[in-house]
Amino acid sequence: MSEHTDNLSSDPAALLRWYADAGVDEAIGDHTIDRFKVTPSAPMVLAPTVSKTTPTSAPAAVSAPVQPLHVSEGSATHIAQAARTVAELKAAVESYTGCGLKQFASRTVFADGNPKARVMFIGEAPGADEDRQGLPFVGVSGKLLDRMLASVGLDRATNAYITNVVFWRPPGNRAPTDEEIASCLPFVVRHIELVDPAVLVFVGGLSAKTLLAKAVGITKLRGHWYEYESPGLPRPVPAMALFHPAYLLRSPQQKRFAWRDLLAIKQKLDQA
Ligand code: URA
Repeated sequence: MSEHTDNLSSDPAALLRWYADAGVDEAIGDHTIDRFKVTPSAPMVLAPTVSKTTPTSAPAAVSAPVQPLHVSEGSATHIAQAARTVAELKAAVESYTGCGLKQFASRTVFADGNPKARVMFIGEAPGADEDRQGLPFVGVSGKLLDRMLASVGLDRATNAYITNVVFWRPPGNRAPTDEEIASCLPFVVRHIELVDPAVLVFVGGLSAKTLLAKAVGITKLRGHWYEYESPGLPRPVPAMALFHPAYLLRSPQQKRFAWRDLLAIKQKLDQA
């Protein structure tokens, strides 16, 4: 510890100020947990099968199918695959305790919109507003997403369906960890299978990277079509990644790329 932090330990008010300055603005539990002693229990899932198609290139880069290495009874994959309907999957997610985020959240944020819609949007993680209302994309960035959808004739009340890659708000709006994402992934994969959309849209880099199983950022991923496949889907689903509305609020000059992608999504929906 530095001299500065040594002083903090004898001055609780200064310590609180130091935490606040560092962005620690929320207590997430009554007891401290030694994370170095906690053994991760994330399910083993391989990435979805994805191939990339662009107007100028043939399909490329195929990765392994979404299949658990071993589907043990009671695992997230086992529970998720047992769901026969979206309602059953929602109930399964609500009673699932395998994701560490759940203990800090007020509500499970499963989905919003029409599950029979031909387009399914998958965002990142619920924030404070979503946690309060139990619905995805209802805060400031959700309002922008609604306007983006409206610009191409989509809205969650009739012809769009929206969910996230994790179902609970990460404390303090931090990014979900790989382990937290992995624990929700079997439900997300099953969610896509049950909705079986004509077009899939990954909203933001985290969603795109997770479901395309790519280690590159959203700037590289957006603007291309991919074919998303999993064993429970009757056919590959055309998929596109979109800049996250929270990013567009911070970087409005990027909106023109999002507009371009939205038009491509609309065109694909019109053709599909
Ligand atoms: N951002 C997301 O990615 N999802 C939400 O539900 C809200 C904000």
